[in-house]
Amino acid sequence: MTATRSGRGSEHFEITYYVACSIDGFIADAEGRLDWLRPFEQTGDDYGYAAFYESVDAVVLGRSTFDFVRDMPEWPYEDKPTWVFSHASLGALPRRAVATVEEPVAFAARLRAHGYRHVYLVGGGRLAASFRAAGLITRYVVSVVPVILGGGLPMIGPGGGVERLECIRSEAFPSGIVQLEYASASRTA
Ligand SMILES: NC(=O)c1ccc[n+]([C@@H]2O[C@H](COP(=O)([O-])OP(=O)(O)OC[C@H]3O[C@@H](n4cnc5c(N)ncnc54)[C@H](OP(=O)(O)O)[C@@H]3O)[C@@H](O)[C@H]2O)c1
Repeated sequence: MTATRSGRGSEHFEITYYVACSIDGFIADAEGRLDWLRPFEQTGDDYGYAAFYESVDAVVLGRSTFDFVRDMPEWPYEDKPTWVFSHASLGALPRRAVATVEEPVAFAARLRAHGYRHVYLVGGGRLAASFRAAGLITRYVVSVVPVILGGGLPMIGPGGGVERLECIRSEAFPSGIVQLEYASASRTA
């Protein structure tokens, strides 16, 4: 087995959508705010995020998520090559971040060919939908937050057909968050 950037076998290529959502399936409220997540981030538990982040060798974001993250005090992906999907002009980008409009299948094939083995799809739901529609998301790590928002931005936008998933892990945290990990099992158009 060939050694790679991630230490995994050369045949291994994973795109993981790692996301927190309300129990009614939203990743942000209707205005794109995440304040409802804050109390759960202040528990001292990282819900396995640091270990997950360590396992990835590339990061992808949609433009709306990028706009949100860019406003944070520090760019959190400085140590990983990052691609921002957008047709807009984004201005100056953080270190190691580049904009792209590449079609997701070609993009994933290019990363794979360059030796990347585990891509972190940060979101949001519209970018996830375009990757999912192309059959590219191989793993979902969903932290289900015990909050009902009653509306907002969906975890995955529409389209892409039915996809059956295999649950490979579930873990309950003292805060009430339940983290579910799924591998994509099969898809019908
Ligand atoms: N709870 C969580 O864990 C979590 C995680 C991630 C994000 N979020 C939140 O989710 C919200 C944003 O989610 P969203 O679904 O509205 O937007 P999004 O997916 O972040 O961004 C959508 C934009 O990405 C670009 N895009 C998407 N697919 C593309 C493709 N295939 N090719 C080229 N460009 C593509 C387009 O930008 P252009 O219009 O510029 O072309 C599109 O308008 C933010 O509030 C963010 O904070 C929450």
